Amino acid sequence: MRLSRYFLPLLKETPSEAQIVSHRLMLRAGMLRQEAAGIYAWLPLGLKVLRKIEQIVREEMNRAGAVELLMPTLQLADLWRESGRYDDYGAEMLRIKDRHEREMLYGPTNEEMVTEIFRASVKSYKDLPQNLYQIQWKFRDEQRPRFGVMRGREFLMKDSYSFDLDEAGARRTYNQMFAAYLRIYDRMGLRAIPMRAETGPIGGDLSHEFIILADTGESAVYCDRRVLDLPIPGEDIDYSSDLSGIMRDWTSLYAATEDVHDAARYESEVAEGDRLEARGIEVGQLFYFGDKYSKPMKAVVTGPDGVDRPAQMGSYGVGVSRLLGAIIEASHDDNGIIWPDSVAPFGAAIINLRPGDAAVDEACGKAYAALTKAGFDPLLDDTDGRVGAKFAAMDLIGSPWQLIVGPKGLADGVVELKRRATGERQTLSLDAALAAIGA
Ligand SMILES: Nc1ncnc2c1ncn2[C@@H]1O[C@H](COP(=O)(O)OP(=O)(O)O)[C@@H](O)[C@H]1O
Ligand SMILES: [Mg+2]
Repeated sequence: MRLSRYFLPLLKETPSEAQIVSHRLMLRAGMLRQEAAGIYAWLPLGLKVLRKIEQIVREEMNRAGAVELLMPTLQLADLWRESGRYDDYGAEMLRIKDRHEREMLYGPTNEEMVTEIFRASVKSYKDLPQNLYQIQWKFRDEQRPRFGVMRGREFLMKDSYSFDLDEAGARRTYNQMFAAYLRIYDRMGLRAIPMRAETGPIGGDLSHEFIILADTGESAVYCDRRVLDLPIPGEDIDYSSDLSGIMRDWTSLYAATEDVHDAARYESEVAEGDRLEARGIEVGQLFYFGDKYSKPMKAVVTGPDGVDRPAQMGSYGVGVSRLLGAIIEASHDDNGIIWPDSVAPFGAAIINLRPGDAAVDEACGKAYAALTKAGFDPLLDDTDGRVGAKFAAMDLIGSPWQLIVGPKGLADGVVELKRRATGERQTLSLDAALAAIGA
């Protein structure tokens, strides 16, 4: 992409409505625009990161054996009456009437709908287990939308729903999602800690929240700091194997959100030097809730013994849009965002210090072609701005690699290569710089 043709409305002033750094930086970097309280337009740069996060989530869900589908955002109220949640959900649910006065709602979550889809076709244990997921917009009319994408009213979630014959099967699926979540956040450069959590309006008896430690987090959390050093399952993880060992390693060290925190247990189980009391951002949650929906909604399957029973269900959410904020909270400096390579909107940037200079334009063109070919999706700054402003913009939007090409350097056969994360700068030939980036 050429910056001269891109849509990147950077803000010079720090927007006063933004209270936390990730929100400020997303607005300043031209990623986001608020259209109503808690409702945002995703500008091109923000959308690119959102898509990359989505893709990591998708790859890891697929690896774990889940199957993607897409359900509508609008749902019939009658469906929610079947589970009893239509009246229970309260003011957070956006209720709508269509032209026939039929009551509808904008989905805050999808347990009812996926249960309806499941029961329509699955009748036998032979078709189990199933784990269906989507990456879809949700609406929750939050009382206090704030902190930008952290607590929006409209937000993007990955939500999956599993169906098993019995509790043992449901726990296996739960463990698969537990391991997949460890991998998802790790690939985004985040250390997410699974913590015991309350089940809330979803209900059920087993739940973990995945928490990123950050001062701006909304909940207080308590854990044994040794969880920070536990190994993440590798790409070669075998999801059909017994994952209870991973589960045991991660859940035997104390980690709990404030809602379920047990101070006495914490103090007896965690040595004083290992106690970590902090604030955290919830970036995902796992729930096992058995037949809470399958029973009232009659999603039954026939077991090998010929007896019908409600499917054992769980649901598993990832806050896809919230993750942009969480990653920025975890990775920024005074100059702007520091994207991990895996989610950077552009894998590398080329800064042309003298557009119109034939040699500089040519070197930039060569770098652009090589980086494109190597899959870096480069951003070429071919604008006429002040050099200082060009550097500041690339730092603000967090380009992980910055290749700086100017007439003076080229006369000596060199360019400059800057690594955003470390600030390290190297002067080297264009070919050597491209090789250093990996192109
Ligand atoms: N209002 C919101 N804005 C952005 N992300 C949200 C919002 N509510 C929930 N999420 C994300 O979606 C994930 C799954 O949601 P869930 O656990 O059902 O919601 P909650 O924790 O609000 O009860 C959460 O872990 C969180 O990362
Ligand atoms: Mg939650």
